[in-house]
Amino acid sequence: MKKQHSKEKGYFHFLLKWIRNPSLIGSVAPSSKALSRKMARQVNPSVPGLIIELGPGTGTVTDALIECGIDENRLVLIEADEEFAALLLLRFPKAQIIIGDAYEIAALTKNLPVPVSAIVSSLPLFTQPLARRKVLLQEALLLLQNKEKNEAQGAFIQFTYALKSPISPDKDRFSLHGTRRVWWNMFPARVWIYRPVNNP
Ligand SMILES: C[S@@+](CC[C@H](N)C(=O)[O-])C[C@H]1O[C@@H](n2cnc3c(N)ncnc32)[C@H](O)[C@@H]1O
Repeated sequence: MKKQHSKEKGYFHFLLKWIRNPSLIGSVAPSSKALSRKMARQVNPSVPGLIIELGPGTGTVTDALIECGIDENRLVLIEADEEFAALLLLRFPKAQIIIGDAYEIAALTKNLPVPVSAIVSSLPLFTQPLARRKVLLQEALLLLQNKEKNEAQGAFIQFTYALKSPISPDKDRFSLHGTRRVWWNMFPARVWIYRPVNNP
């Protein structure tokens, strides 16, 4: 009963945040378990390196990543909202939490030990101009270069409510795959997987 109550409070709090700043929060409710799992399952835990999460919010996708076998120590969470960041710090004490603008991913992660094995994003990309989205993906794909092996690895994983990819295909740079819709979410969503083309 107590758990139910706090979950409802969590939803209400999320909704209030969206009312205050819809373009930052991008969603009226936290991601469902079904959507969070769908995103987490795109990450291959055996690819070595860190997993960077952009816009983790309340940590639903973070939970799913851990459930899928990813060690919390491998997680780097980049969140712009200070209240969410404080919550994440309590919920995931072993993860590295960075308060900042995920579109500055290159600068924010420049001191991290490489490689990065996946980047999982819940950012509301469509609230940003296309040019900014493209730069974000370009920088994310650069982070997915395993310098020791001189090859690209892993994937950039993004969910959207829209039917189309937030970044148009560019087969010289990445392969693109969209999953079926996840209906059990407020609102139904698709997961997009961008894999860097291996250009040694
Ligand atoms: C759709 S919500 C989070 C969904 C999350 N999976 C959940 O269930 O709580 C998007 C999140 O992205 C964060 N966000 C939006 N723009 C951001 C930015 N430029 N940098 C970092 N975080 C950002 C918001 O603060 C919010 O936590």
